[in-house]
Amino acid sequence: MDSLLVQLTTILEPLKLAELFPQPQLLEVELGCGDASFLAEYARQNPARNFIGVERLLGRVQKLDKKGRRLGLMNTRGVRIESAYFLEYLLPPHSAAALHIYFPDPWPKKKHRRHRLIGESFPALARRVLAPGGTVFLRTDDTDYFQQMNEVFAAAKEYETVATPVALAEITTDFERDFNAQGIPTLRAAYQLK
Ligand SMILES: C[S@@+](CC[C@H](N)C(=O)[O-])C[C@H]1O[C@@H](n2cnc3c(N)ncnc32)[C@H](O)[C@@H]1O
Repeated sequence: MDSLLVQLTTILEPLKLAELFPQPQLLEVELGCGDASFLAEYARQNPARNFIGVERLLGRVQKLDKKGRRLGLMNTRGVRIESAYFLEYLLPPHSAAALHIYFPDPWPKKKHRRHRLIGESFPALARRVLAPGGTVFLRTDDTDYFQQMNEVFAAAKEYETVATPVALAEITTDFERDFNAQGIPTLRAAYQLK
């Protein structure tokens, strides 16, 4: 099986999704997928959907490639790039049924908060790429960041709060397992386009 990593020939044009996957299926995207332990399992359980994992660290996106190929995940691809750039420039408009953002870096110092992925401009960035009725699924251990996530989506009237499906919540991420082992609970939220 060939590498699952997308070799970007340009970062100035949107991806041609039809050329990336063998089957034209609904697409879900995980931003900051880390070691891809969530994405590999989720993609294994959902062969009738396509998945892209976005990650800026080479070593981590290579783990996606390794796990995905071991599991024969024809429906999964990895892109090494910055998440906000990916949403703004590379993902075609209204192409994703869901965005998953799990344990994004919390940037706990006040002066660094502007680096957070989920800020006030994020709902509009997500709306650009989400298909009608698409959903943003969020998890974090950080109470302050969780509050910010809730505030920015509460202010974005085109979304409504929905429950995270149990089958989805049951698939944990690498960081989530570490936090839970330390007794730190997972905070979860999901926002769906009305
Ligand atoms: C705290 S880790 C969580 C990884 C994984 N989601 C999990 O829960 O196990 C955050 C991940 O997001 C990646 N990351 C952080 N900011 C990013 C960005 N702006 N674009 C792409 N990846 C990013 C980091 O390299 C790291 O792998």
